[in-house]
Amino acid sequence: MAAAARPVTPAASLSSAGGTRVRVQTTINGQPIAAEVEPRTLLVHFLREVVGLTGTHIGCDTSNCGACTVHLDGKPVKSCTVLAVQVNDREVRTVEGLEVGGKLSPVQEAFFEAHGLQCGFCTPGMMMTATALLQRNPNPSEAEVRDAIRGNLCRCTGYVNIVKAIQLAGQKMQASSATSGGKA
Ligand code: FES
Ligand code: FES
Repeated sequence: MAAAARPVTPAASLSSAGGTRVRVQTTINGQPIAAEVEPRTLLVHFLREVVGLTGTHIGCDTSNCGACTVHLDGKPVKSCTVLAVQVNDREVRTVEGLEVGGKLSPVQEAFFEAHGLQCGFCTPGMMMTATALLQRNPNPSEAEVRDAIRGNLCRCTGYVNIVKAIQLAGQKMQASSATSGGKA
């Protein structure tokens, strides 16, 4: 049986005094979440300001930078282009949901080991895009990685180590899958 939706405290709700509010009931990183927000509330603001998951960044608000990338039903989306009400009864995964049981995901490990970041502002979105890529293609070429991250902008690294990190993560995932007999 599904767990009961966790209500968000009223103090954390996004609303204007007396304005129309709509209910959002969704699952974020495996946790049921319910809250009332203004109909215009964007998913990125819902995540950061209502739910308190500030790992998802806002770099532009114009759908260019990709810093706000999260997974919606397993697919990467720019959460500044999605209304919070659009995630009703759907599954959202944020960068906070990548690690499991206190263990970093292969993508997180690889970004650390291959120095795939400098300031780190683009990193959450980059890792969400990379995770989605590797789920459908665990052995991407450099060109395939660069194509996948073309919607994620980085102002620091020049992308070289980001590409290396994503390919390293793919190798880690393949090694882990081979060790577990493909049951990972
Ligand atoms: S904040 Fe969403 S793409 Fe830049
Ligand atoms: S590491 Fe600074 S924007 Fe990418």
